[in-house]
Amino acid sequence: MTAPRHVVPSDGCVWVTGASSGIGRAVCLELAKRGWIVAATARRQDELESLSREATGLLGRIIAHPLDITNETAVKQAVLTIEMAHGPIALAFLNAGIAPYIRAPNINMFAVRQVFEVNVMGVFACMAALMPLMATRKLGQIAVTGSVAGYGGLPKSAAYGATKAAIIHACESLKFDCDNLGIKLQLVSPGFVATPLTAQNDFPMPFLMSEDAAAKCVVNGLASKAFEIKFPWQLAYILKFLNLLPYSVYMWIIGKITGVQKG
Ligand SMILES: NC(=O)c1ccc[n+]([C@@H]2O[C@H](COP(=O)([O-])OP(=O)(O)OC[C@H]3O[C@@H](n4cnc5c(N)ncnc54)[C@H](OP(=O)(O)O)[C@@H]3O)[C@@H](O)[C@H]2O)c1
Repeated sequence: MTAPRHVVPSDGCVWVTGASSGIGRAVCLELAKRGWIVAATARRQDELESLSREATGLLGRIIAHPLDITNETAVKQAVLTIEMAHGPIALAFLNAGIAPYIRAPNINMFAVRQVFEVNVMGVFACMAALMPLMATRKLGQIAVTGSVAGYGGLPKSAAYGATKAAIIHACESLKFDCDNLGIKLQLVSPGFVATPLTAQNDFPMPFLMSEDAAAKCVVNGLASKAFEIKFPWQLAYILKFLNLLPYSVYMWIIGKITGVQKG
């Protein structure tokens, strides 16, 4: 069996979720620079329209397709609409996400449900709508945004980290099927990137990257053979290493680094 190949602009268009800001927005522009037709989705239509205008003059183009990924019916319809308008979706960057803080003792159940709806159920809805089409064509590439926060528990991210751990697990599991179906599935694991999502963070963010640098890592990674596209590599490897340590050592180090540990 040969590994699924990475796709190129002549194979079809790209679908990006979470395109209205941050990493998704920067990735749309990077892909358009490299000649892709990009179907950009998120809820805020005005931001998508402004992104579309910003791409004027690039080799490719960006077209706004407003979408709330928590609406499964709308996701299915969006996939059909995008394919009708721009041809087969060859590449999907499933990136939309939210990151509310959750801390004990006051667990905000509304926020917990919402983050699972967007970060987990929304991603599954996108894959459910797209994978059968790619499988029929035996061609396609899907990159899903997880996070290094999914490697192990970090303060304030009880729900967010849990959603990203679920995404890591889901991608690891689905990769076995996707390889047989001709679909190249990749996991994108960002560290800290300066976006509206991290603007709320009130703690040090080591190895913080710009949106543009992150977008280049994502788009270059799409052409690589790697299952996981992780950046910055320093933070990813430090966290992977820390997660190999006994819990007592892991908790002590993370508590000290983040300033959460008292005493
Ligand atoms: N920034 C980081 O340091 C970092 C680190 C690790 C992982 N990540 C992950 O990277 C991804 C992008 O994050 P970001 O930092 O670029 O944050 P961001 O700037 O806040 O972007 C989040 C995007 O998700 C979209 N979105 C949220 N809820 C949605 C919904 N229900 N339906 C459709 N789109 C929705 C938002 O658009 P609308 O509001 O217009 O819908 C926005 O475009 C997320 O999955 C995040 O968990 C980020």
